[in-house]
Amino acid sequence: MLSEAETKEGTTRVLVPKRPTKSVFYNPKMELCRDIDIASVAAFVSSLPSLSLSPSPSLSPSLSLSPSLSPSPSLSPSLSPSPSPSLSPSRPLTLTYLDALAGTGVRGVRVANEVEVGPQVQLKEVINDRSTPAYELVNRNIALNEVEEKARACNEDANLLLLRNRYDLVDLDPFGSPVPFLDAACKSVRRLLLVTATDTAPLCGAHTGGLRKYDAKPLNTEYHREMATRVLLGRVARDLCKYDKAVRPLLCYSAAHFVRILAGVEKGAKRADESLKELGFVAHCFSCGNRFAFPYTDSEILRVGERCEVCGSKTKIRLAGPLFIGPIKDKRFCERVWAELEERELGKKREALKIVGRCVNELDIPFFFEYHAICKSLKAPPPPISWLIQALRSDGFSASRTHFSETAVKTDARIDEIKRILLKSFLYDTADF
Ligand SMILES: C[S@@+](CC[C@H](N)C(=O)[O-])C[C@H]1O[C@@H](n2cnc3c(N)ncnc32)[C@H](O)[C@@H]1O
Repeated sequence: MLSEAETKEGTTRVLVPKRPTKSVFYNPKMELCRDIDIASVAAFVSSLPSLSLSPSPSLSPSLSLSPSLSPSPSLSPSLSPSPSPSLSPSRPLTLTYLDALAGTGVRGVRVANEVEVGPQVQLKEVINDRSTPAYELVNRNIALNEVEEKARACNEDANLLLLRNRYDLVDLDPFGSPVPFLDAACKSVRRLLLVTATDTAPLCGAHTGGLRKYDAKPLNTEYHREMATRVLLGRVARDLCKYDKAVRPLLCYSAAHFVRILAGVEKGAKRADESLKELGFVAHCFSCGNRFAFPYTDSEILRVGERCEVCGSKTKIRLAGPLFIGPIKDKRFCERVWAELEERELGKKREALKIVGRCVNELDIPFFFEYHAICKSLKAPPPPISWLIQALRSDGFSASRTHFSETAVKTDARIDEIKRILLKSFLYDTADF
């Protein structure tokens, strides 16, 4: 018999193994990820009633939420107060949710307990683990929180379950790589896919597993966290495409030892083809740090490797990819998640707000620059990050912070332009920033 302790995440009581065991897994360090999930699922579900008001019937919830993709933010269907014609009060929309690799069931039970869906939506959950002791603990956690009407435990192989059934929301939270479950998850999922990867070494290019597992070559650069996120998302996009589905990234981030993807899913071959246009490559010069991205379809690939246009190096340019080079977040969705986080009782609220807040304002550029490292190469102390962002903007570039690193900026300026601007900081007093 498993020796258990009771803990609390959010407003949910959770029985967990007292000591780490092989049969039931619980990692308290993933509470941050679960806190963001709760807010994200709540934001996603609460955006659904506006779905069928989209100008095009094929628009996904993520598209309908995005000001950047709407013709005008003021026309964004998610802002419309009118009720959805497809959701009548007498017939609520039933959404099915699979927590495929549940461990103690903490994720699924928290969703059942903490996400209020309102009278128009019903959330029916399956919380699954193939380990029998884990399954038994899931059952006890469901009972402890009295969510039997919303959730049931299941003791199956995740792939079998996914291949046999369709689910609106699918959560994959495996040990290491999600790749063994991705194909079946992409076949099954209808609306929202949530995927964790903790195999950051192959995703970051620290060893060769990237090609083997993800059919993509990552590079071990200073922006390896972002590369990992985009390599994983690229793989998700390609797996969804096989089933004529398109990925619409809502909130993709990396923290601590993991990468987490929350992506809307859209049906249709045409949409799937369009989503492939967001795949591409990142070229990086290991001589001067110059970097740029280009899409799959671009003939740029034929030129890469000739010569770095910044330093002239012939041999130091390397390619990473294919990876996702489009936006990895939907600004409006992230704002909703932020608002959900703010009003909830959560153990990791402060960290979660910081990550999601950064994501809201992060530029959609597929890499960033570690400006402290650049300053080191210039043998000069780094100015405040706010000074650099302001100086880049004053010179006509876009610039923002990034959740991936405290000491990095995202900008469309080239490395030589960033250096030129940084050199200015040594000439002027930056104390006011
Ligand atoms: C990282 S743990 C899950 C942690 C959990 N989601 C959480 O937030 O605490 C991965 C789980 O997947 C289960 N698992 C591994 N392979 C599986 C399979 N093929 N089918 C179902 N469950 C599986 C393991 O028993 C383990 O409990």
